[in-house]
Order: sequence, then structure tokens, then C-alpha cells
Amino acid sequence: MILLNSTPIKTMTINKLVAQTRTCRRFTGSPITTSTLMNLIELARLSGSARNGQPWQYSIINDQQSCCDIFPHLGWAGYLADWKGPAPEERPTAYILCLLNHDRLNVAEKHAHFDLGIASQNILLGACEQHILGCRIGAFSPEITRTFNIPDNLTLELIIALGEPKEKIVIEEAKDKNDIQYWRDTDQIHHVPKRPLKELLVTLERTTD
Ligand SMILES: Cc1cc2nc3c(=O)[nH]c(=O)nc-3n(C[C@H](O)[C@H](O)[C@H](O)COP(=O)(O)O)c2cc1C
Repeated sequence: MILLNSTPIKTMTINKLVAQTRTCRRFTGSPITTSTLMNLIELARLSGSARNGQPWQYSIINDQQSCCDIFPHLGWAGYLADWKGPAPEERPTAYILCLLNHDRLNVAEKHAHFDLGIASQNILLGACEQHILGCRIGAFSPEITRTFNIPDNLTLELIIALGEPKEKIVIEEAKDKNDIQYWRDTDQIHHVPKRPLKELLVTLERTTD
């Protein structure tokens, strides 16, 4: 069990950094600077990309008004049925909008979302190193696009909400194959079951011919 602690960690092994890079949905309200966010986009820029097509672009949002405008369109923690999302003082203080540029899709269209997975994880790893956690939000309402003038060649596919973490998160081993739902205990600690390593491994027999 890994307890997310609240002190910044200066140097981390990759195992620890990956383990600490948890989805977080409650934040302290501390602002995140534009230069910090630009550094995170730099990590997306350096990410692997199918056929090196690099179809993704990113928009940084960290002003209060835009953060307020975005928030009502976000779907939070589907498994926590009684929780309506972070309270006003616990909301993210920055967002990265991930936009697919359709003019750059010609070389590797079917792999574009793999690229976004890699890039968004690099963003979140880099954020964690800076003691910032986040939440990928795929469940946003289409009305959010009315908040910004998004050029016709770009579509909003994912939003990364970011902030200084306020919640405690633990990873634990999933008890059985159906144990995938994250949950909160009475101390408001967020628990995330992960399947045991042996369940990820598949031994394949070699074919005979
Ligand atoms: C592509 C993607 C979309 C997601 N969309 C949402 C979302 O809309 N709302 C939300 O609260 N969490 C969302 N999550 C976060 C997942 O719920 C989270 O990754 C999962 O519970 C496992 O927790 P962990 O990231 O700490 O391992 C998303 C994660 C991914 C990878």
C-alpha cells in the first residue's frame, strides 16, 4: 500500500514517481503558474508519437474566470455516486485542454489517442514531480466548447485538471476481478484497487508450425 504523502519529494525513483502519480480530485486552491504549465507541455512535446505525426495541441488555462467557466462542464468520479465533485475551495486551479489537430492526422490517425495517453501521462508525471496532481477528464459536456473559440480543425478530446493535492490516496491490490471501483473510507481517504501483477501477465505457448 502506498500512501501519498503531502511533502514534495525532490528525487524519486521511477517506481515511486509512477506510484505517486495518482488521480486527485480535491485540491488546496494554490495557483499554478503559466511557466510550470509550459514545462508540462514541454513534456508532452517530447513524447512518443505514432509515425511522429504529433497531432496534439494543448491550451493552458489558469486564470480564475476560465477555471470557473470550465468547472460546471466536468464529470467527476463516476464511482462515487454521492459525491458531486470538489467543493468550490477544493477545485482545480489549472487545466490543460488537449486538442486534436485534424490537419495533422494524415499519417497515423488510428494511433492518435495512444499518443495522447503517452503525452498526458508525461504531463502528470512531471506535475507530480512538482507536487501537483491531476485528473484526466474524459467526461466533459460538449457545451464546454462554447466557452472558447476553438478553431474548426481542432477538437477537444481530453481535459487535464490540475492542482496542489489536498486528498490522501492509497493504491491497494484488487481482491478479485470485479474489484475495480475506487472508493473513499470514512476518513475521506481515496482507495484505488489495482489488479495484482500476476493477473497482468499472460504466458503464451509457442505455435508448433
Ligand atoms: C482516459 C481517461 C479518462 C478519464 N476520465 C475521467 C473523468 O471524466 N472523471 C474522473 O473523475 N476521472 C477520470 N479519469 C480518472 C480515472 O478514474 C482514474 O485514472 C482511475 O480511477 C484510476 O486511478 P489512478 O489514475 O489513480 O490510477 C480518467 C482517466 C483516464 C485515463
